[in-house]
Amino acid sequence: MERLQKYLASCGVASRRKSEELIKEGAVSVNDVIVTELGTQVGNNDVVKVNGVVISREEKVYYVLNKPVGYITSVKDELNRPTILDLFEEKDRRNRIYPVGRLDFDTAGVLLVTNDGEFSNKLMKANFEVEKEYVARVEGIVTKLEILDLKKGVTLKTGYATKPCKARKVSIDRKNNSTLLNIIIHEGKNHQVRLMCEAIGHKVKKLTRVRVGSITLDDIPRGCYRRLKIHEVKELMGR
Ligand code: URA
Repeated sequence: MERLQKYLASCGVASRRKSEELIKEGAVSVNDVIVTELGTQVGNNDVVKVNGVVISREEKVYYVLNKPVGYITSVKDELNRPTILDLFEEKDRRNRIYPVGRLDFDTAGVLLVTNDGEFSNKLMKANFEVEKEYVARVEGIVTKLEILDLKKGVTLKTGYATKPCKARKVSIDRKNNSTLLNIIIHEGKNHQVRLMCEAIGHKVKKLTRVRVGSITLDDIPRGCYRRLKIHEVKELMGR
């Protein structure tokens, strides 16, 4: 048994405070009897309705999507461009899932998707130590000194000074005058990797996120997703 307002909040109806207001306003019924008493206890067998609509607790779900280029990391887009939700089967979309953080329209790779606000908030916290690993194809040949600058931290054109990170050259393509870089950061400022590369004088041609924490792309085909395992969720949350 638990307090009605707590139950409403855990079902995603509204915050605890807002749920209390709904109860006081007479919008909530338990077993078809309007309840305005805040302390009312409900259990699994009670039918709770808000404005006549039955509510139930949402199952928490966690996915890793291999995001393709050409999709907006959002649940809807004003310009009607494809969103990452379009890549999910109808049955998996029912739980009001949304992306954790953001990958640019032009970026591919690991994107976590969930309906768990606590999980999402925790991972998005700037000081939370989850590593994000990127592979970037950049224009021009990157020098050792430029790699050192990246590692120490650079000032982006937005004025933000990036924290120290890991960066290395994977390979150089002299014929096409480009370099493949591997960059691991903890932060998640908008367009951070593109802006970091720009700050050392190299425009990103192609960007893929290959890892978040211990979650990699494995053999998930582009545009496909899989459920995270419980131990993966716990590990990401630092438990
Ligand atoms: N950094 C970027 O520049 N773009 C992304 O999509 C992710 C990280």
